[in-house]
Amino acid sequence: MNRHTIQLDAQNRLRHFLTIEGLKRSLLIEIMDLAESFSGVSEQSVKKVPLLRGKTVVNLFFEPSTRTRTTFELAAKRLSADVLNINIAASATTKGETLLDTLHNLEAMHCDMFVVRHASSGSAHFIASHVAPHISVINAGDGRHAHPTQAMLDMFTIRRLKGDFHKLKVAIVGDLLHSRVARSQIHALSTLGVDEIRVIGPRTLIPAAAETLGVHVYHDMRNGLRDVDVVIMLRLQYERMNGAFLPSEHEYFQVYGLTEDKLALAKPDAIVMHPGPINRGVEIASDIADGRQSVILQQVTHGIAVRMAVMALTMRSHAAALEAT
Ligand code: CP
Repeated sequence: MNRHTIQLDAQNRLRHFLTIEGLKRSLLIEIMDLAESFSGVSEQSVKKVPLLRGKTVVNLFFEPSTRTRTTFELAAKRLSADVLNINIAASATTKGETLLDTLHNLEAMHCDMFVVRHASSGSAHFIASHVAPHISVINAGDGRHAHPTQAMLDMFTIRRLKGDFHKLKVAIVGDLLHSRVARSQIHALSTLGVDEIRVIGPRTLIPAAAETLGVHVYHDMRNGLRDVDVVIMLRLQYERMNGAFLPSEHEYFQVYGLTEDKLALAKPDAIVMHPGPINRGVEIASDIADGRQSVILQQVTHGIAVRMAVMALTMRSHAAALEAT
């Protein structure tokens, strides 16, 4: 079974959430619609619904994270699940235990869902292929391969603020070569039928085969930003670079940093997005990050509702499987 099919059950319901590649438009819409229905929960005085009561969600983060880990934890708690945050640095993996042995021990504790971030591309798929049938695996970022919940919260943000995807020109700017976020965004944007996807960056940071993904490649930021509706900035991902890809951060900011004069080339009502963490003065000027067109903190807020939706859908698939036995 490949990674495009392992995440769906026989009825094409979401069993795991590993990648956006290969998913149907109707499923992406279902995630966003369900997220819309959950978005009010965070504004209630009692911020909880009982959908995952009695379920146990394990956050397994082998790489650092602020936004993804905490919003997964909040999402699970708002669905009334119990949440375990495994401190990898203090776990038995540091004593030589393999990843699979760690997982099998967590399975023996009757956990129901693993949310996994790992530096190796393919790790979430590997884990999903080896867990017990009652467990769902959600990819919270694997190497430079995929970050599907980030892409879905970005799509949710775009839909809320811009409406119809078909009319939109979207530019993704920066270090696409090392970006799992960009890969997932491109799959989502193209499945949702945007008018045009542009990728902008230096030759050293755009994958050689980018055009095969159906995007338009620009190395000149001013040309690339002209008349776009959405600007998505990416950070330089030094942790995945081996070698020198840039002359200096200062020079990078001069050419590819988002500043007021460059943003003025986009549509006047263009929105500025960034998955975070942002590096001020490297890929984005502070006045733009904090400015009227920035929706960066709205993206973070939307992460909770979108992650609630993904968790609820995967658990729905398991509930249906249990009912059928
Ligand atoms: N966007 C994102 O993945 O941020 P974190 O690394 O803080 O989770």
